[in-house]
Amino acid sequence: MSDLVQPDIFCLAPLRGVTVRTFRNLQESWFTPPDCAVAPFIPTFAGEKIKPLLLKDVDPELGQSVPVVPQVIGKDPDQLRTLLRAFKAMGYTRADLNAGCPYPFIVRKGRGAGLMRDEAAFARMLEVGCEELPQGFSVKVRLGIDRPDLLLARMTVINGFPLREVTIHARTARQMYEETVDVEAFAAALERCRHPVVYNGDLRTRADFLQLKARFPQITRWMVGRAAAIDPFVFARLTMDTPPPRDATRLKGFLDDYLTACEEELYGPAAVLGRMKELWSYLHQALVGGERLWKGVRVCRTVHEYRRVVDAAFAAFPGFVPDEALRGLQPEVGVA
Ligand SMILES: Cc1cc2nc3c(=O)[nH]c(=O)nc-3n(C[C@H](O)[C@H](O)[C@H](O)COP(=O)(O)O)c2cc1C
Repeated sequence: MSDLVQPDIFCLAPLRGVTVRTFRNLQESWFTPPDCAVAPFIPTFAGEKIKPLLLKDVDPELGQSVPVVPQVIGKDPDQLRTLLRAFKAMGYTRADLNAGCPYPFIVRKGRGAGLMRDEAAFARMLEVGCEELPQGFSVKVRLGIDRPDLLLARMTVINGFPLREVTIHARTARQMYEETVDVEAFAAALERCRHPVVYNGDLRTRADFLQLKARFPQITRWMVGRAAAIDPFVFARLTMDTPPPRDATRLKGFLDDYLTACEEELYGPAAVLGRMKELWSYLHQALVGGERLWKGVRVCRTVHEYRRVVDAAFAAFPGFVPDEALRGLQPEVGVA
């Protein structure tokens, strides 16, 4: 065993519709980027023929400033194999399996968190993943579907394969993204898991990080989702005791570049507006009076109108809410 202290690694979580390739690629230009990112899930499909559009988000030829791990959602091992081989053909040696998506229509079909319900199907997916990507396959799970003990029941299966890591979002699927994270149930799963564990859930401020690190000193991998959409300066705030102040000019520069990239990449103004509104549904939370601005953005019907609303907001910039207002964890949670 090495005595060297492992550095903490911060990973951008997959958020479908938000942490897409252009969002990820602009991190380095405007903010402190994460160490790595897991891309939003790509569904498995029947047949051998792969539509290029399906893989566009993780196409390395389109540029990747942050190291990316592609993610798969599905329940059919043969289909998983096809998709993993397509990733390998693009040069990837890693991929992640989504066993945590909580949406009922996905869970009912035995995908996402629903995969955890069927032990044999779950095991088969892990088996194929580890066969195709030895040392490179990982899984992202929740604590369970209705109750937080299903993950514990699946730990024998999870421990039975040579997974690279296991990301645990410390909620059940039934909780969706509501209520507080269940740090106790996470601790129980961590204790039983023989793989490196990535903590995920409501990590938003340096105080959250220090609180979790004090409780789980053995964890060195941290995944951050919504906080990166609420405040793209998050990785500086998480990793530095005194980060540089957040800067409205940078945020505006990022937003302008993101809009341009979306206009180049997406088909039609409705799709572009949809993408920007998806981001703003989080981003407004970091701005003073953000609710009012969000109402203004939400009703924009053209890109021109959107530009006018956002330009006006930055011309009279209201300021960022203080760090404490962004905290994800209850201050007492996780104190041993
Ligand atoms: C809009 C949205 C889209 C998401 N898409 C994915 C996805 O594609 N794959 C995945 O594993 N998790 C997905 N998640 C879950 C996040 O990766 C993450 O686990 C969750 O947001 C909790 O982390 P946080 O509290 O840091 O946001 C999504 C969550 C949201 C809110």
